[in-house]
Order: sequence, then structure tokens, then C-alpha cells
Amino acid sequence: MRAVRVHAYGKRPSVDEVPEPAVTGPWDVLVQVGAAGLCRTDLHVVEGQWAEKSGVALPYTIGHENAGWVREVGSAVTNVAPGDAVILHPLVTCGLCRPCRSGDDVHCENSRFPGIDTDGGMADLLLTNARACVKLADGLEPAAVAALADAGLTAYHAVRKAVPLLYPGTTCVVIGAGGLGHIGVQCLLAMTAARVVVVDPNEGARALARDLGAHEVLENGDDLVDSAHVVLDFVGEQGAERAGLAMTRRAGSYFVIGYGGSVDIATIDLISTERNIIGNLVGSYNDLDELMVLAARGSVRLHTRTYPLAAVNEAMDDLEAGRLQGRGILVP
Ligand SMILES: NC(=O)c1ccc[n+]([C@@H]2O[C@H](COP(=O)([O-])OP(=O)(O)OC[C@H]3O[C@@H](n4cnc5c(N)ncnc54)[C@H](O)[C@@H]3O)[C@@H](O)[C@H]2O)c1
Ligand SMILES: [Zn+2]
Ligand SMILES: [Zn+2]
Repeated sequence: MRAVRVHAYGKRPSVDEVPEPAVTGPWDVLVQVGAAGLCRTDLHVVEGQWAEKSGVALPYTIGHENAGWVREVGSAVTNVAPGDAVILHPLVTCGLCRPCRSGDDVHCENSRFPGIDTDGGMADLLLTNARACVKLADGLEPAAVAALADAGLTAYHAVRKAVPLLYPGTTCVVIGAGGLGHIGVQCLLAMTAARVVVVDPNEGARALARDLGAHEVLENGDDLVDSAHVVLDFVGEQGAERAGLAMTRRAGSYFVIGYGGSVDIATIDLISTERNIIGNLVGSYNDLDELMVLAARGSVRLHTRTYPLAAVNEAMDDLEAGRLQGRGILVP
């Protein structure tokens, strides 16, 4: 089968012919990939930002935002069957550890993260397990929903955590209305009464944010210092992390979602103003299930551009150059 493989950090991946993965364990599910979203994290992987944390051996297959059709299942699997259309929670989790039992899949003590620390879904086939599969409602196509599996899930998870903070009269600033941010805006409008202010230097991203109903859309956040009850930072690097934290008001909360930079604040400033800094990693299976309800209801719609799998580097070029609004989707 074909797979998008990273061979060396700092070097773009190539589309290689590799052996097909096989079902070996009782809970394994082999999925024919219908669509694989392209995330800025894939650029971060190629940059080498994950090399130490993931410890993955090169070469390996990237792609952590997938939907498709079940091709084969292990002997214990009863929740899905060959032919079912599914969207995949990005992690392969055990179901037995304490975090799994409390629904906190992302912190599973025995997980794999295809596309980050093991072979992912920018390929014809992806090996996952029964716990990762969410069946698609009739009529939903994998390519139409794949971006919900990571971009959507991550944005939803952060917004859901922020909901209690965003009562009527509050302001939420969204930094970066790209793949994740354009879904974050819609989740905020669907789930809170906050005034939603979007900051993005990219004209196309601002147009999309306006179209999605953001209350205010700005090219930069210079006038927003000390203004926001919540800041959702979908950039987290190149100065956005400093600007974002500065936009929070006293007792405000700075949600870190994009990454690459570092946050530096004097502890006395944190305590004297009671600002909060909150990390966010993807989301749980239940988050994904809830997001699918918003999507089915039409409260969240994805803005996507599709590319054939073989055009992965063209898609990466477009993402890097800011020519890609919403999400790029690779279709094998
Ligand atoms: N925390 C997680 O679990 C998680 C999951 C997925 C992705 N991510 C990360 O989230 C970030 C966003 O990913 P994406 O795929 O949506 O990227 P993207 O490139 O699609 O979107 C980023 C947007 O931010 C805008 N932007 C750039 N610099 C800005 C600035 N200084 N101020 C305001 N806007 C700015 C860009 O114009 C673009 O519209 C990346 O860092 C990615 O790696 C994190
Ligand atoms: Zn991602
Ligand atoms: Zn677990």
C-alpha cells in the first residue's frame, strides 16, 4: 500500500510503497482510509519538534486525523463490522487503566498515537482498535468529516473546558482561525454566550471567521490587552504566546492549544492577578461523540480542500504558505 513516510527530520516526507498492516490482536480494527486531514502538527513532526517526546523510529507514516471504512476486525470486536464507515478517535487506548475508565482517553497509560508515535493514517490502510471507532451516521462520507477527528476534537475539547468561564457578558479571543480555529469559533458560538473575537493576520482566515459568525475579526490583537475572560491560542508560537497571555484580563484563562514557543511569566504576576494557563491535548472519545452531534445538527461545518494522497507535499506547501483556509484533506 502507499503511505506518507517521514525519513529524516527537516526533510519533507515521501509517498512510499510499504507492506499492509495486519489484524493480530482481538481488539484490532483495520481501516481503509477514506480521508486523512493535514494538521500543522504534521509540519511540527517534520520539523522534529516531536522527535524526543514521541521517540518514534524513522521512517514512519504520519497522519493522525482519519476516517474511512472498516476492512477487517479482530475476534473480540462487536461494535463495528467490515464495511462500516467510521471516524477514528486519534489514540489507540486500553480501556482498562484509571484514565480510560474515567473517560479520559488522551491520558491512557497504555496508549499508542498513530501518526505521532506509531504508523498513522496518511496511507491506504490504518491499524487501530475497537475503542477508537465512532460509526458514522448514514450518508456521512469519511472525507466530509475526517477533520473532526483532530482539528475538530481538539477545538471542541478546549471550548468545552472553557464553557463554565464563558457566561453571558464575557469575551473569548480566538488566536488563529485555521484548521482548528475555524472549528473553535463555531463551537464557541454553539456552546456559549460569549462575544467571540478572532485575531488572524491571514486575510482568507479572517474572511472565513467572519463568514462563520465571529462577532469581531481583527488583523492583530494590539488593542486586546487585558480584555479577555478566555483566550484560546491556536498558534502558541512566534509571539502569539506572549500576546495571548497579555490579552487575558485579571482572573482570565489562557488556553494553550498551538505550540512551539514558550510561556514565561513571573509567578508574582500569576498570583497577584489570578491568571490561569491551561494546556489542551486533543480530546476524549466522548468529546468526539458530542462533536459529531453538533456536526450532524449543522452547528459545526468544516471548510476543507481535498488533495490526492500523492499531493501531500503540495498540500504541506499550501499550509505553510497560508494558502490553505480551513483544513487540507488527503484522499487516498
Ligand atoms: N493541542 C493539541 O492537541 C493540538 C492538536 C492539533 C493541532 N495542534 C496545534 O494547533 C496549532 C494550529 O494547528 P492548525 O492545523 O489549525 O494550523 P493552521 O495553520 O491551519 O492555522 C493556524 C492559523 O493561525 C494563524 N496565525 C499565524 N500566526 C498568527 C498570529 N501570530 N496571530 C494570530 N493568528 C496567527 C494562521 O494565519 C492560520 O490561520 C498548531 O500548532 C498545531 O500543531 C495542537
Ligand atoms: Zn493535529
Ligand atoms: Zn488506558
